[in-house]
Amino acid sequence: MTLHDRLGRAARAARRTLLACGLLAGTLSLPAAAAPRDAEFFTNLPLVTADGTEVAFFDDLLKDRIVVVNFFYTSCTDMCSLTTARMAQVYDWLGERMGRDVFFLSITLDPENDTPEKLATFAEGFGAGKGWTFLTGTQENIDAIRFILGEKADALALHRTDMVIGNAKTGVWRRSSVMGSLTIALQSILELDPAYRDSLQTNAEALQNALEINTVYDLSAHPGEAIFLSACASCHTIGLGRKYAPDLAAVTYRRDADWLRSYIMDPDLVLASGDETAVGLDQDYPGVVMPNLGLNPADVGDLMAYLAAADARLAATEAEAAASYAAYEAAVAQMTEPPPPAAGDGWFATVTRLFTPAGGN
Ligand code: HEC
Repeated sequence: MTLHDRLGRAARAARRTLLACGLLAGTLSLPAAAAPRDAEFFTNLPLVTADGTEVAFFDDLLKDRIVVVNFFYTSCTDMCSLTTARMAQVYDWLGERMGRDVFFLSITLDPENDTPEKLATFAEGFGAGKGWTFLTGTQENIDAIRFILGEKADALALHRTDMVIGNAKTGVWRRSSVMGSLTIALQSILELDPAYRDSLQTNAEALQNALEINTVYDLSAHPGEAIFLSACASCHTIGLGRKYAPDLAAVTYRRDADWLRSYIMDPDLVLASGDETAVGLDQDYPGVVMPNLGLNPADVGDLMAYLAAADARLAATEAEAAASYAAYEAAVAQMTEPPPPAAGDGWFATVTRLFTPAGGN
């Protein structure tokens, strides 16, 4: 056989493999799912939900459903709360699909400590509602279930942060993670739904919408911003209100710089030391903990600079608003008649009208 023949044969074999995988055919076809795994594989071992109801693992939680399963424990001081916060973002995006097409199952690895009440507080802290079930049970049953799902860590802190995602009806089971791009995590869940996959192939608009949910981090902006967006923003906003954690607006004014630095670096240690501020914050957010993300001092320096820059921007906006309000008050003080009623937007609209030259009145 000539070299040419051999290459031709190899190319044909490769092409056959690609065709079998659906790659050349341009489809997203899935590996053939002969007989979806059922209760025999997954078991019907009983688990207990956050409201104390006993459920059978396969029949009540998996059967006929698209599910996203992760493992966590409420006393975890590092990754669990970050993973849950990032899952909560995907949960929000899934919107009305949750509890209808998709179900999240968060199973504790520490059932002895994690009572249904503790699960309920944790779930509430992350705004988990319809379609997101938190589960505990006996250690024995949890161990059996986690082994089936590939969670074989022999110490709590070593557990996996990824998720098992699957469609029990079609029998497709995969792993996905919320620690990378959340868009990809969302996409990996949606693609378990054959109807969704088909709609993407026939509906350019759906594809465009799917691609437009954008979680790209712009590294050129500010080194601290990239860290903030990937490690903090799933729980905190700066100036947009409380999410699962305090709004960090003005935190660089409110808190001592040294305290802030050590708290961002080792919140668990600061809390354990009995620090009053940390204890107070912890009590205000019972379900969610500020995680120790293993940041190094350089990362924390970048974050501090980013938070300070954000605060300076907020302060400037506030000063501007205060100045225009003062100008409004001065203008009103000079008027002999009562000010015109503010239309719609309150005093700001009034100010705009007062200072518009052609505005007349
Ligand atoms: C999983 C959610 C979560 C993530 C992720 C997170 N935090 Fe927090 N953070 C909290 C919670 C909750 C508190 C309140 C204290 C508590 O309950 O532990 C807090 C408190 C804080 C505080 C104190 C706020 C104040 O008013 O004094 C700062 C500062 C802070 N976090 C910064 C950060 C930074 C910076 C990051 C990213 C590196 C981050 N956090 C990531 C949940 C989170």
